[in-house]
Parts: sequence; C-alpha cells; structure tokens
Amino acid sequence: TGAFTFDPGFTSTAACESAITYIDGDEGVLLHRGYPIDQLAEQSSFMEVSYLLLNGELPSKAELDKFSNTITRHTMVHEQLAQFFRGFRRDAHPMAIMCGVVGALSAFYHDSTDINDPQQRLIASHRLIAKIPTIAAMAYQYSVGRPFVFPKNDLSYTGNFLRMTFANPAEEYEVDPIVEDAMDKIFILHADHEQNASTSTVRLAGSSGANPFACIAAGIACLWGPAHGGANEAALNMLREIGTPDRIPEFIARAKNKDDPFRLMGFGHRVYKNFDPRAKVLSKAATDVLNKLGKNDPVLDTARELEQIALKDPYFVDKKLYPNVDFYSGVILSAIGFPTNMFTVLFALARTVGWVAQWNEMISDPQQKIGRPRQLYTGATKRDYVPVDKR
Ligand code: CMC
Repeated sequence: TGAFTFDPGFTSTAACESAITYIDGDEGVLLHRGYPIDQLAEQSSFMEVSYLLLNGELPSKAELDKFSNTITRHTMVHEQLAQFFRGFRRDAHPMAIMCGVVGALSAFYHDSTDINDPQQRLIASHRLIAKIPTIAAMAYQYSVGRPFVFPKNDLSYTGNFLRMTFANPAEEYEVDPIVEDAMDKIFILHADHEQNASTSTVRLAGSSGANPFACIAAGIACLWGPAHGGANEAALNMLREIGTPDRIPEFIARAKNKDDPFRLMGFGHRVYKNFDPRAKVLSKAATDVLNKLGKNDPVLDTARELEQIALKDPYFVDKKLYPNVDFYSGVILSAIGFPTNMFTVLFALARTVGWVAQWNEMISDPQQKIGRPRQLYTGATKRDYVPVDKR
C-alpha cells in the first residue's frame, strides 16, 4: 500500500537534477553545458566536448592539451585483460564482448573503488574514457581474427582508435583525415543525452556505491537493446533489407500495422517530438562524407526516400515520429568500413564520457540517495501455505 505515482517508463519523473545536458524535445534543441550540439559537431572535437561534459566549461588550449595527454597516458590495457577476449567465441557479438571486458576492468583497478575520493573518481573516469577505444578496437580485431594493435599515442583520440581498429600490425597505417573527422563528429553527437535508459542505468547502478567500471558495463548492457543504442545496427540492417525505394511502402505499411511488431528503426524518440538535431547534422554529414570518400551507397537514397515518405504519412505526422540519431549514422559508419555489429560499440565508446560525467555528478550531489523505485502491487493477497501433497 502507499500513495505512489504510477509512471511506467518514467515518462514524467525527474530522478535527479543535472547541469550537463539540456533537451527541448518539442523544439528539437540539444545543448551540452549550454552549447548547441550542431555548433559542437561542426566546430569542436570529441576531446574538447569530453572536457566540457566533465568540467562544465570549454578548455583553454593548455587545459585541452593537458586533458588529452592525461587520456593518452591511460590508453593501454593490461596484457591480462587481453586474455578475456580469448574466452569468447570468435563470432560473439562485439557488444557481448564489451559488456564482459569493460566489467572485467573492475577487477584491475582496486584504487578506483574509493568512489568518495574525487581524485580516485577522476582517475577512474580518465581510465574509462581512455581504455574504451582500445577495448572496442580489440573486440573488432578479435572478431575478424587479426592480432591486437597497441595504441599509438602521438595520434589523436579518434585517429588512434581508427588505427587500432583497422591497422594490420605488419604494415604502416595512415589515418584518413576525412574518416577521422567523420568519426570524431559521430563521437561528439553520441557523447551525452541526459537521462536516457543507459545513463539512468549507470546512475542507478552507481547509486549503491558500486564500482565505476561495473556501472559502465551496466550502461553498455542497457545501450545494446534495439529500442536504444542497438537501433543504429537495426536501422542499417532494415535499410539494406528494404534494398530499393520501391519496397518502402511495404515497410511503412508494416510499421503502421498494430498486429506487426515491426517498427521503423531510427525513427521516433521518447523526448523529441520534432527533428532530432543530431539526425539533422548526420543527414548532411552522410552526403558530405560519402562524396568526399568517393563512395556511392544506394542505402543513402533508400534512407532519404523513406524519410520523405514517412514525414508525409499521417501515422508518423500524428505521432510526431521523426528520424533520430540512429537513422543516418549507419550510412557513414558503413562507408568508413565498420560492419553493422560494431555500430552500437561505437555508440558505447562515445557515450562513455556522458555516463562518466553523469556518474560523477551524481556521486558529488549531496541530495543523492540509492535509487529505489516503488511499485503498485498486483499479486495475490495473503494466503496460507499448503503442503505439496495437499495441492
Ligand atoms: N515505427 C512505428 N511506430 C512507432 C515507432 C516507430 N519507429 N516509434 C513509435 N511508434 C508508435 C508506437 O507504436 C506508439 O503507437 P501507439 O500510441 O498507437 O501505441 C507511439 O508511436 C508511441 O511510441 P512508444 O513506444 O509509446 O514511445 P516511446 O517513447 O516509449 O518509445 C522509442 C520511443 C525510441 C523506443 C520508439 O520510438 C522506437 O521504438 N523507435 C524505434 C527504435 C529506435 O530508433 N530507437 C532509437 C532511439 S534514439 C537514440 C537511442 O537511444 O539510440
């Protein structure tokens, strides 16, 4: 018993105060620490945005250099951690590997368990941001049966990640600046999104005082679902399945059919009832990047046509369903050379900074309590136990 507000899916419950990210879903506005996402995506870098999310202000040149150097110092993972990969089937989904290996980090850094020490929290945060690209690249190299590539710390955060992912250790590898820019932009666009499901998971896990590496592994697990980060993989698979624009009406009809569980992946959002501003940036970037790389992928035409048709259809108009961040990102990631099963890993890589910033904010908040939702009980009323021979 008790007078609780019934709010399944937390559609109208604010679980915390936060000064990191602002969203106006009706207007399609996303600000990090006050800065519009399109300005950050066009003009900033992922390292700078990471600093901004963690510290609240854009860094000076000296602060940015210091931060980048600190992250760089933590990019290596222990050789013992590499052993974890070998325990996975080689066809394991890389997100399964990420859940396991990132969680395993909690067994490596015993000093990071003192979460009440701000210095230790900072070190744990830096370790996570620095090691996640190394682990993500290892997950990819493992899946294609190639040796792991060590970090090369004179490269940028994103350049280093691309090299660790795609390089053959026996050959020189030049990072393509077009690919590096596109990747960095995608990382910026995924860096944080206030209290989404995976961030709320990290906060809930962290609210009990749990180990930060284990909390981020919980966030990765939540992100994997197709209603959340897994939508980028599902969206590109869907676009490839549609294949040619003439098949779009068939898929639109399925998405509108109440008896069919199919949804248009990369469409709709809990908060945005207007264009997702990240999708706007990515829609433009998709054309740009494909042009610059001299690639022509018919999937981009299918995506554009699908968007046009859906945005004129009363079902999508009435329900205010617009393309979200996951709709166009896959076209770019595919052009860069990632297989679809790596897409959500890239989302997790970028979102790690948001998770860490939100976790830090929560731990330093004096109002913070263990997260403990209540329920409306609908089960049996009290009854007496009946021994098995009497049932
Ligand atoms: N295709 C067809 N119908 C849809 C879709 C869609 N993509 N999205 C929502 N609807 C319908 C839904 O059937 C419901 O109809 P009704 O009111 O008649 O029952 C109505 O729109 C509202 O949907 P909801 O599921 O109650 O809304 P929600 O806020 O709980 O869900 C969502 C939001 C993102 C999970 C949902 O829109 C969805 O499943 N989209 C497809 C998956 C996707 O692209 N996810 C990525 C989200 S963006 C960033 C991220 O987290 O990665």
